[in-house]
Amino acid sequence: MTPANPLRDPRDRRLPRVPEPCALVVFGVTGDLARKKLIPAVYDLANRGLLPPGFVLLGFARRDWGHEDFGSLAREAAQEHARTEFRDEVWHRLADSVRFVPGSFDDDNAFDKLNETLVELETSHGIAGNAAFYLSIPPAAFPVVLKQLERTRMADSAGQGGWRRVVVEKPFGHDLESSRELNGLVDSVFTPPDVFRIDHYLGKETVQNLLALRFANTLFEPIWNANYVDSVQITMAEDVGIEGRAAFYESAGAARDVLQNHLLQLLALTAMEEPVSFDAEALRTEKHKVLKAISLPPDLGAGTARGQYDQGWLAGQRVRSYLDEEGVAKDSRTETYAAVRLGVETRRWAGVPFYLRTGKRLPRRVTEIAVIFKRAPHLPFLETDTTELGNNQLVVRVQPDEGVTLRFGSKVPGSAMEIREVSMDFLYGSSFTESSPEAYERLLLDVLLGDKTLFPDHEEVESSWRVVDPLEQFWAGQSAERYRAGEWGPRGADAMLARERRTWRRP
Ligand code: BG6
Repeated sequence: MTPANPLRDPRDRRLPRVPEPCALVVFGVTGDLARKKLIPAVYDLANRGLLPPGFVLLGFARRDWGHEDFGSLAREAAQEHARTEFRDEVWHRLADSVRFVPGSFDDDNAFDKLNETLVELETSHGIAGNAAFYLSIPPAAFPVVLKQLERTRMADSAGQGGWRRVVVEKPFGHDLESSRELNGLVDSVFTPPDVFRIDHYLGKETVQNLLALRFANTLFEPIWNANYVDSVQITMAEDVGIEGRAAFYESAGAARDVLQNHLLQLLALTAMEEPVSFDAEALRTEKHKVLKAISLPPDLGAGTARGQYDQGWLAGQRVRSYLDEEGVAKDSRTETYAAVRLGVETRRWAGVPFYLRTGKRLPRRVTEIAVIFKRAPHLPFLETDTTELGNNQLVVRVQPDEGVTLRFGSKVPGSAMEIREVSMDFLYGSSFTESSPEAYERLLLDVLLGDKTLFPDHEEVESSWRVVDPLEQFWAGQSAERYRAGEWGPRGADAMLARERRTWRRP
């Protein structure tokens, strides 16, 4: 019998845990993220019985609203966007605990009122000083809100008798320097263990499955290295455009919006060593080692591609160009597509290119990690035309059609020794009856439980900026190559791979 590891107690993770009574304070509650993701996630958690009876959802925004007005907005948001079925009895229970405090971020009185409300909730709901503050607001507003939380001592766990946590949405800064400033500020107002930086990709079930696939099996790990892997392609493609977010997107672009965070986190999970346990510290240590080991292509012109969508057709509809989107400058050079060839300078990965790409207005929404293996060193089938035979590939489909596909060569039935590529598929939808929680559902619950396993820390964020800053500096002042909406990005991206005798997968 294997002796139990005294450092781990697997029972901890078997049963879903319910947080202590607490308040979730959302700044920017009228925004898209709150309406489409956060409030629906709160409803889904309530519906699954994962919120304590003393849970309170507290909205803060510049609106002349009472609790009921916010309650109606929250109800509509849950009805429209929740993952689980909308049930009146669940809503009624939740509705009793919905509160709203009106005010702007520079209004001292409003923050004093918020503080008083939290104190009152100790008596009415028994929250015992526990509160998480979710900053679903533009990055420029972070400092003023943080200062208000500091001034009113709302950020001070020790003084409040319970826990105080803060959730910061990406982007974490604009570059390394600004992210350092932001990290410094947040960590000075809250104690660093109470700061939760959200990268919602880490909350996706399939992303966590990547760790299960690698470390719960013997099959893959022995070949997960430069001896067997030819290259890795990580794709995050979207068919949508910028969806009314011109103000943010114009100052960000695809590399800052997605590559700096989601794609580099996916790379880190794909390339990292086995953590000593599945806890926050151990996982971060391994991810951070990878992020620090990333190398940029020596020739940034040849090893990167940058594009901007032109008008085109998608799903039978004509869509406008990026330059025609409302709020976008007519001469904007912002990229809506970015691709880069990265290396990971470790013994395991030396010489293996990691190709990352992301883009808007591509033919379909798909995120995947494709590990492409080297060709067989020798083929004994003398009379067989094997030129059509590709490389073995293991594809982790993050979304949609969540699952894993293995592609390999197989004999075609018949008397000839003909070999063709086939796929073996694992589909979440058909292997499990439970549907996957939404990323925000999982992550919000983790915030309330104080579990930081799936949250990047400030060192990871800063190491990621170290990768993206040189790209941004190289691209500064350059125009982005146009690509037609509905096509797989600019020609430069294909040329980038063709120079290395490779092609992008068509997911
Ligand atoms: C966000 C980006 O982080 O992720 C958006 O800011 C992008 O631009 C979104 O559309 C995609 O998320 P998902 O979960 O739909 O793949």
